[in-house]
Amino acid sequence: MTDVKRCALVIGASSAIAQALIDNLLLDDELQVYAVSRSFPADFSDRMLNQKKLNLIECEYNSAQINAIIEKIKATSLPCVKVFICNGMLHNHSFLPEKKIEQFSADIFQQVMHVNAVVPGLWLQQLITLLRHPLPCVVTVFSARVGSISDNRVGGWYSYRASKAALNMLVKTAAIEYARRAKNVRLIVFHPGTTDTKLSRPFQSNVAPEKLFKPEFVATQLLSLIKPLALENYVSDNKAAFIDWQGKKIEW
Ligand SMILES: NC(=O)c1ccc[n+]([C@@H]2O[C@H](COP(=O)([O-])OP(=O)(O)OC[C@H]3O[C@@H](n4cnc5c(N)ncnc54)[C@H](OP(=O)(O)O)[C@@H]3O)[C@@H](O)[C@H]2O)c1
Repeated sequence: MTDVKRCALVIGASSAIAQALIDNLLLDDELQVYAVSRSFPADFSDRMLNQKKLNLIECEYNSAQINAIIEKIKATSLPCVKVFICNGMLHNHSFLPEKKIEQFSADIFQQVMHVNAVVPGLWLQQLITLLRHPLPCVVTVFSARVGSISDNRVGGWYSYRASKAALNMLVKTAAIEYARRAKNVRLIVFHPGTTDTKLSRPFQSNVAPEKLFKPEFVATQLLSLIKPLALENYVSDNKAAFIDWQGKKIEW
């Protein structure tokens, strides 16, 4: 513990990709990791039982609870150098993404919009005071290629597409303000590619095996893409980058 000099924050840590990120981050002796979730899967909590460099924090993602987490991390005085906002919803036990406009529903749209855009927006709102420090910091927000307005060729998935497009605009707008108020921060909007998680499970049958990524692969790719030298390829001070798992730019 005495070696710890910085910290990282992983939000939405029940995600399989988030858990693979945490495994990687814990390899850095100098990094304390804060993981936030509504509820941690038992197998993950059990596996992490003796990890002294990991704090598991439960959160319902309302402003008060988010603020309490920000204040808790501030109180450690550890500069937070990496943040990952992994939350995302495509379907749940009661709905699947829309195939046609008749399936569009105000209730589903609001649920999806809340998870995919409002929750990350609340974090971006409160992170700005935590992340303003002398060290470089990267915030990665998980979006999806289908949130690209110019890349929309096949349609469908109205709520998911619209909510990820809204998320992208929130991050792009925040990057302009962060450039004034937290100049050390870079914002990345990230598309992981189709990855074998709960989110993609109902849609995996049409995906070629080599195009269905393991969460561990995506986590390794992302961590190499946010290294300082790699970052220079696609991100500048007041512009968020929208990139995929290979580091290729995606059109907004
Ligand atoms: N898997 C893919 O093929 C794929 C493709 C493109 C983009 N993505 C994006 O990648 C990110 C990670 O997804 P994943 O594939 O790892 O999915 P996953 O394993 O299903 O994880 C779901 C994530 O969404 C959060 N979440 C779910 N319901 C929520 C709710 N009601 N309120 C707040 N948070 C909620 C979870 O947070 P808790 O820890 O709090 O439960 C968790 O972070 C998502 O943003 C997703 O849209 C995934």
